[in-house]
Amino acid sequence: MPATDEKRPIILTGDRTTGPLHLGHYVGSLKNRVALQHTHRQFLLLADTQALTDNAHDPEKVRRNVIEVALDYLAVGIDPGLSTICVQSGLPALAELSMLYLNFVTVARLERNPTIKDEIQARGFGRDIPAGFLCYPVAQAADITAFKAQVVPVGEDQAPLIEQTNEIVRRINRQIGRGLLPEAQALIPAMGRLPGVDGTAKMSKSQGNAIPLSASSEEIRDAVHRMYTDPHHLRVSDPGSVEGNVVFTYLDAFDEDRATVEDLKSRYRRGGLGDMTVKRRLDEVLQAVLAPIRERRAALSQDPAFVLEILRRGTREARETTQETLDEIRDALGLFALAA
Ligand code: TRP
Repeated sequence: MPATDEKRPIILTGDRTTGPLHLGHYVGSLKNRVALQHTHRQFLLLADTQALTDNAHDPEKVRRNVIEVALDYLAVGIDPGLSTICVQSGLPALAELSMLYLNFVTVARLERNPTIKDEIQARGFGRDIPAGFLCYPVAQAADITAFKAQVVPVGEDQAPLIEQTNEIVRRINRQIGRGLLPEAQALIPAMGRLPGVDGTAKMSKSQGNAIPLSASSEEIRDAVHRMYTDPHHLRVSDPGSVEGNVVFTYLDAFDEDRATVEDLKSRYRRGGLGDMTVKRRLDEVLQAVLAPIRERRAALSQDPAFVLEILRRGTREARETTQETLDEIRDALGLFALAA
């Protein structure tokens, strides 16, 4: 365990536990976290209480996926000796901090949050939006500040949440007259979102266009086979388009042999290269990326006690960190608390 007086910048990031993670998560965030754990003090939050904000009807799904996401983390190479993996519902300080922060945010501001606006629309919420969902950006501000995170690696769609967090940080720091809380910086991956295998904008389990990290070798082959290419590329001899062609987007994201990819692209554009040849290459590449992840995942899932112990240890450590911050804020706000 890293010493407490160390100077590495603190990272907090995490995932809602609504389903196992997929290739989009792998290129968008997981790979990055595996690298960052060597240079940063990294906390990873299994955000089960945030998942409840639009899954209150199915807490069993949220609970089950705490383990699934933890397995995904460990399988891709998150090292519990370097990163702290913790479960949100085991950190009561986050809930109390959220209650305090709610007083520093207006409903109008929450309704203007672009992330929330998009999500309300995607889920078809009108005025029937769960209050917890409308307010989850405040809870996320509690998550980030409770760890005093300076760096928050998130997808582009989450950037407004970091902005909202920093507004709360500035209000609280101004009110208490000192910089108790650091502002957080969003770390957004250079590569945009990985499209779904059907060519739609985003890979997502709910859209049925995702390749899960646990996919079997046949599932990978089938997904590549179904993959969206260039609908105008009918005969092998026709010139084809590489832009918007999912197979090439994936090769760009996963194939480390750049020369081969460039060669395939120019032959495809020229005409004379069939979709099946490109797909065969992608299948090979994805099989090689996913086989070791799948194997590690399968081995770990045989040992639930080991995984639970990692979560218990990480959550215990995070409980201390978050409680310390909560105590400082309660103190700074001058709350009338009597020691038990
Ligand atoms: N909102 C993130 C997601 O949709 C999960 C999350 C919860 C998170 N708390 C966080 C991310 C704090 C970064 C920092 O998956």
